Amino acid sequence: MADISVNYLGLDLKSPFIAASSGYTADLEKIVALSRSGAGAIVLKSLFEEQINNEIGFLESCSDDYTENADFLKRYVTDYSIDKYTQLIKDAKRESGIPVIASINCYSHSSWTDFAAEIGKAGADALELNIYSLPVNPGKNPQEIEEEYLKIVKKITETVKIPVAVKLGDYFTNLGNFVSSLQGHGAQGAVLFNRFFTPDISLKKMEIIPANPFSSKNEYLHELRWIAILSSYLRKFHLSASSGVYDASSAIKLILAGARTVQLCSVLYKQGPFVLQDFNRELKEFMDSKGFRTLADFRGLLNYANIANPASFERVQFLRTAEQYSRGQNPAL
Ligand SMILES: Cc1cc2nc3c(=O)[nH]c(=O)nc-3n(C[C@H](O)[C@H](O)[C@H](O)COP(=O)(O)O)c2cc1C
Repeated sequence: MADISVNYLGLDLKSPFIAASSGYTADLEKIVALSRSGAGAIVLKSLFEEQINNEIGFLESCSDDYTENADFLKRYVTDYSIDKYTQLIKDAKRESGIPVIASINCYSHSSWTDFAAEIGKAGADALELNIYSLPVNPGKNPQEIEEEYLKIVKKITETVKIPVAVKLGDYFTNLGNFVSSLQGHGAQGAVLFNRFFTPDISLKKMEIIPANPFSSKNEYLHELRWIAILSSYLRKFHLSASSGVYDASSAIKLILAGARTVQLCSVLYKQGPFVLQDFNRELKEFMDSKGFRTLADFRGLLNYANIANPASFERVQFLRTAEQYSRGQNPAL
């Protein structure tokens, strides 16, 4: 029988499927349901740097336009205090019986970093750093931004005793270079990719509104390429896939590309925790049908280094595909 256990960031997981950080994983009842349904680990909802630093005053001082944001943040800070967060870690650890990964959403290496040690003390098995600063100032040097990210990682990995993974967006000119630097600064893994909340425009109200936060199927293809490329040379660094995974077959493809674990979020909101049972069952069925005994037997089997034609991941493939479509052929069939 196929063995779907995996070591991720030094933690022993009974399944490679992880419940991603979201409001869903802020609720103890849901965390227990996720564990009972077969989740390998839980990433708790992020605590925000702003919460930790209590930087509401900063936002208020920015401009009157920020008043609504400041009100929101005040309410948010009251609802999700740091104490509540460390309590959630303890409760989730006690009740779920599976590894619990805390999460901090941050953008600078300011005083909040001292708090990170509390996360480990509360019993979190690992820490996911969701680093995201939106560079709205065109005068800012991109290198400065990357250096700030790396300073955060270095400071945190020096502060905490638990393993650290960094959850990233894909806005990097040379992602491979940056992810390699994360490893050099003490991180044990990366989660690719974060899916940022985006604004939309309401034509009816003629104003900015939040876009639908849920992903759609096929978005997983985006991280599939990068995981296939990065896993070909970052052999000891653990890559976790996130975004657009709605079924076991997409997850299996991501493992074939080199992902150690696959994170689920939107599918849990839409279909509930029991979907994890299908993921685990279908993964085992796939492995049995192909004669794979462990995940290591096929992890990265179709990554950039292991396929006969690495150009399938490269620019030349765009030309080929476009040409095939213009001749009325569908290369995906
Ligand atoms: C409602 C909602 C809340 C989220 N909150 C967080 C969060 O607090 N921290 C975080 O790192 N990611 C957060 N995410 C991002 C998810 O963890 C995940 O990376 C993203 O939704 C892509 O995965 P999916 O396609 O399976 O939804 C959130 C996503 C949603 C939909």
